[in-house]
Amino acid sequence: MAVRTIEWRNGSVVMIDQRLLPAREVYRVYRDYREVARAIKDMVIRGAPAIGVAAGMGIALGARTLRPGDLARDFDRLCRTFAATRPTAVNLFWAIDRMRRAFTRNQHRPVDTLRTLLEREALAMHDEDVAANRLMGQHGAALIEDGATILTHCNAGALATAGYGTALGVIRAAREAGKRISVLACETRPFLQGARLTAWELKRDRIPVTLITDNMAAHFMQRGKVSCVVVGADRVAANGDVANKIGTYAHAVLAHRHAIPFYVAAPISTVDLACARGEQIPIEERPAREVSHVFERQVAPSGIKIANPAFDVTPSELITAIITERGVARQPLGRTLMRLATGAAQPRPTRAVAARKPERRREARKERRR
Ligand code: MRU
Repeated sequence: MAVRTIEWRNGSVVMIDQRLLPAREVYRVYRDYREVARAIKDMVIRGAPAIGVAAGMGIALGARTLRPGDLARDFDRLCRTFAATRPTAVNLFWAIDRMRRAFTRNQHRPVDTLRTLLEREALAMHDEDVAANRLMGQHGAALIEDGATILTHCNAGALATAGYGTALGVIRAAREAGKRISVLACETRPFLQGARLTAWELKRDRIPVTLITDNMAAHFMQRGKVSCVVVGADRVAANGDVANKIGTYAHAVLAHRHAIPFYVAAPISTVDLACARGEQIPIEERPAREVSHVFERQVAPSGIKIANPAFDVTPSELITAIITERGVARQPLGRTLMRLATGAAQPRPTRAVAARKPERRREARKERRR
């Protein structure tokens, strides 16, 4: 059964409250853009593509309050509210930029028309995200072998996107293609997206899933129980370094140690060509309470220092391939990502160079004979 992560319904934004899953399925209805921004910050909705769509819909909601006058200034304020919610997932900024461009194109129109067009832009982002996930699924499923056990981290499923999912989209597509697969879902301390959300989604889809704590991954890899790793991404730098949920880097190092393919599934909207390398990606620091407490129960002494970086960066060289809706980027990731992201054709030899190739081969043969 498909999960309805986020919807635009009669001029309001409706989203499932992911903080309450799996115990309760509660849908929140927001009519004020500030509430949508708060919902992103507080993790009612989370996951890179999902928060991008939420920002788009939130801005469309806020646009309803725009009055003729200083439209550009008010719209800018609206966009800044969303830009200040979470810093790491680039999809959020990608969506805000897209709404800004739609505004600039149409700001000369009557305010009513402008509002309708902004709403349409947000809905288009929603639908395009689902379509991208389906395509990613098709590309990615080809990489998964029949009988595979796939390790995943965090939640890169329908709940983290407008629907179907990125990493879980690949898993779903492999299953739809008739492959007999099973999943090892890491619980993902401290927010438990793996235990609460990934396990919940896979159970609903009847995809065999085993929940493990994050520190069990090495053990299962060592015992030959992991065929490949598939995770999502919050931001992919131009050189192919990937920021994703804290703990992802550890899985990548382990996968490398055990010669297990490590795949990242992410739409092109997650690729940030303006960010050259992973170390430039801002890492969100979340409240200490997420670590000191498990739900309401305190599990660490009061008054100690606590660190809670929400993401880490996996260097490009540890990644086997990045699965996008435009195809699979393989090593060298930087070059192939650039080609996929810009839509630039693969560099082909010019006619003169191509014509020289057989000539070069003949020369090389002669050289070897000498
Ligand atoms: O803090 P979260 O839950 O928003 O982090 C989510 C992740 O790290 C996901 O793996 C990532 O956004 C990819 S979702 C398709």
